[in-house]
Amino acid sequence: MINTQNIEAINTEFADYEPKQILKRVLADIDNIAISFSGAEDVALVVMAWKLKKDIKVFSLDTGRLHPETMQFLERIRKEYKIDIEFLSPEAAQLEAFTRAKGLFSFYEDGHEQCCGIRKIAPLRKHLQGLSAWITGQRKDQSPTRSNVPVAQIDKSFSTPEHTLLKFNPFANWTSAQVWEYIRMFDVPYNPLHDQGFVSIGCQPCTKPIGPNQHEREGRWWWEEATQKECGLHKPSVIATDS
Ligand code: ADX
Ligand code: SF4
Repeated sequence: MINTQNIEAINTEFADYEPKQILKRVLADIDNIAISFSGAEDVALVVMAWKLKKDIKVFSLDTGRLHPETMQFLERIRKEYKIDIEFLSPEAAQLEAFTRAKGLFSFYEDGHEQCCGIRKIAPLRKHLQGLSAWITGQRKDQSPTRSNVPVAQIDKSFSTPEHTLLKFNPFANWTSAQVWEYIRMFDVPYNPLHDQGFVSIGCQPCTKPIGPNQHEREGRWWWEEATQKECGLHKPSVIATDS
């Protein structure tokens, strides 16, 4: 049984597992678990898990700033796979105070932390309090800040003294090419923005298509340093017990 005590051993055990084997084991062992779905190529993770467990819990952070294409794509997956996706909204009063004080594009001037904090991190933190574990589509090859992402870990960012949260990244050791191979092989629907040069997809004002030989992360928060390109969902991970 996977638990907070044996998570480092589980992480070692998972080292040579394929994502499907990881999901199978995790979903069998942990009931109160959900997938965090961004509406990008992590659809592969959602579909892979759905094939193993039809009533898999999925949630998505509806920041209010996603591309219309992403919204339509999330809806398509919700309907086609009959997945009851939970859309998490920012807290209205907090958001209104923020946009009234700073407008709608303050992230270009003073960085994305505050906006991401309100639109993503606060609703995520609240939601994770009710879960034993969450599953993400993070991969080591996505970013310099993710080169050590473990498959299984204690999520130190969102655990509290009363509640230890587990986090699983079944795609950690997969490359982008492997994810796309899965999407093509199983004819999984994907976000149409991927056909327009978008690789890593987040909110519309903070995402742009990339050109040849650009790293996928260069299309996110491009006005900021590469090492700062985490919105707080995933703090850089070093060992299994790090967030
Ligand atoms: S981000 O932190 O820079 O925005 P990224 O877009 O690379 O993350 O996605 C990595 C993983 O974070 C996704 O596979 C998903 O699990 C989670 N994630 C990112 N954005 C969202 C979102 N809007 N809703 C739910 N999960 C998300
Ligand atoms: Fe705000 Fe951009 Fe972060 Fe989205 S990615 S929450 S628009 S700063």
